[in-house]
Amino acid sequence: MMERIAVAKDFSMSRIVHGQMRMKDWKMSNRQMLGLFKELVEIGITTFDHADIYGNYECEAILGDVLSLEKTLREKIEIVTKCGIKLVSDKYPERKVKYYDYGYDHIIMSVNNSLKNFRTDRIDLLLLHRPAPFFDPEEAAKAFADLKKAGKVLHFGVSNFTPAQYETLNAYTEEKLVTNQVEISPYCLEHFENGNMDFFMKEKIRPMAWSPVAGGRLLNPHDPKGPGILRVLESVAEELNTSPVDKVIYAWLLKHPVKMMPIVGTGKTDRIKYAADALSVDMTLEQWYKIYIAARGKELP
Ligand SMILES: NC(=O)c1ccc[n+]([C@@H]2O[C@H](COP(=O)([O-])OP(=O)(O)OC[C@H]3O[C@@H](n4cnc5c(N)ncnc54)[C@H](OP(=O)(O)O)[C@@H]3O)[C@@H](O)[C@H]2O)c1
Repeated sequence: MMERIAVAKDFSMSRIVHGQMRMKDWKMSNRQMLGLFKELVEIGITTFDHADIYGNYECEAILGDVLSLEKTLREKIEIVTKCGIKLVSDKYPERKVKYYDYGYDHIIMSVNNSLKNFRTDRIDLLLLHRPAPFFDPEEAAKAFADLKKAGKVLHFGVSNFTPAQYETLNAYTEEKLVTNQVEISPYCLEHFENGNMDFFMKEKIRPMAWSPVAGGRLLNPHDPKGPGILRVLESVAEELNTSPVDKVIYAWLLKHPVKMMPIVGTGKTDRIKYAADALSVDMTLEQWYKIYIAARGKELP
């Protein structure tokens, strides 16, 4: 069975998470999606990542529709969703600009909407989607406490936060935040450089890694930044006697001692399985650095 990451005393997530932001692009019927999700659960991928805004506010309800086809599935998965970004959308015609809202009322309203969309009575993990220049941690913490008391949200975390932003909110919440979901891939090294990775190690926080194959750009030979990295990924794949390169990218993420949880965004079963297979790829430290150096575009000092 797949490794699980305990992020709290009473809460664990599957090491590989399935991201459902692009589910409208998969062009699958609800029945087909049910088949996919059951297959994922069977191989141990039980954590599904959402946000209120995905698919112009429509993806959460698609998962809800799928879950309604087989009631027992809800008990086998963990639902992660996010709140706080207010999109300009035909769903909210009065909104003239995209902005962030972490006020008490918005967080409560957003969670109530998500519960209705998913057709469930609880969210396993709620994340604040992005840090905001206008942010009152006391209000967010009060919303968290009330949602927890009502049993509507079981655990809380953040996404795209810096260590200082994480610590600030953590200082106000009754329970510790359980994770920070950030972008990590050979295409995006930002968190190796901004102190976040050191903070995760120090605090024993296991981050969730979004866009692990950079939304497909890492595998696109025509991407302006991709080909240099892709060539090295291919040579490491050859050294490891494995294929395709997707697996090497996931192995690179999984090798890091921070124990991140890659969020795989494809709807294709074989591609999702490459992430699970990568758990048994034994990459050397030198191979890890080959990829890191190709990703940063220059030798280490
Ligand atoms: N917290 C945040 O701010 C944030 C931001 C973005 C995303 N996320 C979360 O992270 C999840 C993953 O993000 P993501 O979808 O950008 O991740 P990703 O897994 O890096 O990218 C998925 C995309 O890459 C394509 N792809 C995968 N393997 C490929 C291959 N071998 N060749 C060509 N294309 C390939 C997929 O196409 P196919 O479907 O055709 O395979 C899909 O369009 C999202 O679903 C969401 O849950 C969070």
